[in-house]
Amino acid sequence: MTDPHLLSLTVNGAEHEVVVEPRRTLADVLRHDLRLTGTHVGCEHGVCGACTVLLDDAPVRACLVFAVQAEGSEVRTVESLAGPDGGLSDLQQAFTDHHALQCGFCTPGFLLLAEGVLAEQPDASREEVREALSANLCRCTGYQTIVDAVCATARARQEAR
Ligand code: FES
Ligand code: FES
Repeated sequence: MTDPHLLSLTVNGAEHEVVVEPRRTLADVLRHDLRLTGTHVGCEHGVCGACTVLLDDAPVRACLVFAVQAEGSEVRTVESLAGPDGGLSDLQQAFTDHHALQCGFCTPGFLLLAEGVLAEQPDASREEVREALSANLCRCTGYQTIVDAVCATARARQEAR
């Protein structure tokens, strides 16, 4: 079961073909094969959430997903958030405005987790946002500012509807 597999992967709207061993994780393929190093790897066993990406719009821990499991699905990483001109997305700007990052190691995972939550629950209450974000770990911020940033983005998107 270690024979290399020709994998077709759609990441951030682009098609890629890579040859991988079936045991290779999605996190490693994103970072090492596709050079999308915005996806961070912390614990490598599903605890910290730093590696969170969207798989068909649902947040997943990329260190717990084999890359071959993502075949035929749409993967989105933090590199997809900025606009074509490199400008920050509304959520990224809110993280900046609310001081929701310090070292930034956890930030890509929180951004993708939050995008998944807001897509699933656009009218999420502050408590629901807190509960959802509790899936990921941050060693720096104390979490309140991350919750503030996500709630501010949710409000702004509600008002823009
Ligand atoms: S690196 Fe994947 S959950 Fe920590
Ligand atoms: S900003 Fe440093 S771990 Fe979250």
